[in-house]
Amino acid sequence: MEIVLGIESSCDETAAALVTGERVVLAQRIASQDEVHRPYGGVVPEIAARAHVERLSPIIAEVLAEAGMTLADLDAVAATAGPGLIGGVMVGLVTAKALAMASDKPLIAINHLEGHALSPRLADATLNFPYLLLLVSGGHCQLLVVEGVGRYRRLATTIDDAMGEAFDKSAKILGLGYPGGPALERLALEGDAKAVRLPRPLLGSEEPHFSFAGLKSAVMRAYQTGEHKHADIAAAFQQAAIDCVIDRTSCALASAGQVTALVVAGGVAANMAVRSALETLAAAHGLRFVAPPLALCTDNAAMIGWAGIERLRMGQNDSLDIAPRPRWPLDESAEPVRGAGVKA
Ligand code: KG4
Ligand code: ZN
Repeated sequence: MEIVLGIESSCDETAAALVTGERVVLAQRIASQDEVHRPYGGVVPEIAARAHVERLSPIIAEVLAEAGMTLADLDAVAATAGPGLIGGVMVGLVTAKALAMASDKPLIAINHLEGHALSPRLADATLNFPYLLLLVSGGHCQLLVVEGVGRYRRLATTIDDAMGEAFDKSAKILGLGYPGGPALERLALEGDAKAVRLPRPLLGSEEPHFSFAGLKSAVMRAYQTGEHKHADIAAAFQQAAIDCVIDRTSCALASAGQVTALVVAGGVAANMAVRSALETLAAAHGLRFVAPPLALCTDNAAMIGWAGIERLRMGQNDSLDIAPRPRWPLDESAEPVRGAGVKA
């Protein structure tokens, strides 16, 4: 059975994991940099890159030791090669190249988004292609038909902010600190979503694209009136964001063709209210709903190792001179979206 070392360093999590082809995570470590970036209210790329340098080698040594293995036991080394903050991606990819070269094992360069997209298959052996994937994280908000490993058809993306970004910015407005998504979800539990009226950008529009910038600005205005409880604003924001996501996903289902399941992945998939709304939507369409366990939603290396296994099984690996890609769309053929401010 295959064993792959996965490495993730594209944002503010330094992570390593050993994953088997039998879907077992033999060992994993995630060194979060939340504390390092908290004073700045967001991820500082240079500080992140330096923190990855300090932390990555020790945690790789730890996961190997925990599993009682050496590099010789591996079938491949898989690392995130983009998209993400270029300094961090370089640290992970260069480390993976060095390990692959030293142990004479194949290197597999993984698209971070593919890691998220295939992560539900690590947890669920019965999830088959094609499935409709809602990929919602701090940097991305997309609806994709996952047709196979490396085969992604993008149906929608955001024309401004990602969903996690909207959670983080709204949380910042409400003084919840960084990272704000989980804190906002907790505060929303104590609030009344109906107490504050907020817009639902693009609701009902013909194509399934997303927009969150206007919602975030409305949160700012609601906050500045000083008339609302913070918990009510949090609840109203979360409900508005969910209403948008459900409407947009429902729109995408109409053009997705035959799919085996509705699947959610990425950091925002850790949100219980989001999960439960999607579960209801899937049921209404007679579809299975699949969401990875919480630990697989936010950035981790197990999903990178698993994507490595999937690629290894397709007979794919990469040359040691492969370059990191700060931008790397899953569907390279997807057109830029009108209104997204993309320069010609
Ligand atoms: O996938 P991820 O760890 O990193 C990226 O690739 O972006 O996603 C992080 C994002 C952040 O914006 C974070 O606030 C959001 O996911 N997030 C949540 C929750 N947990 C993480 N948003 C809402 N509710 C949550 N429980
Ligand atoms: Zn991510």
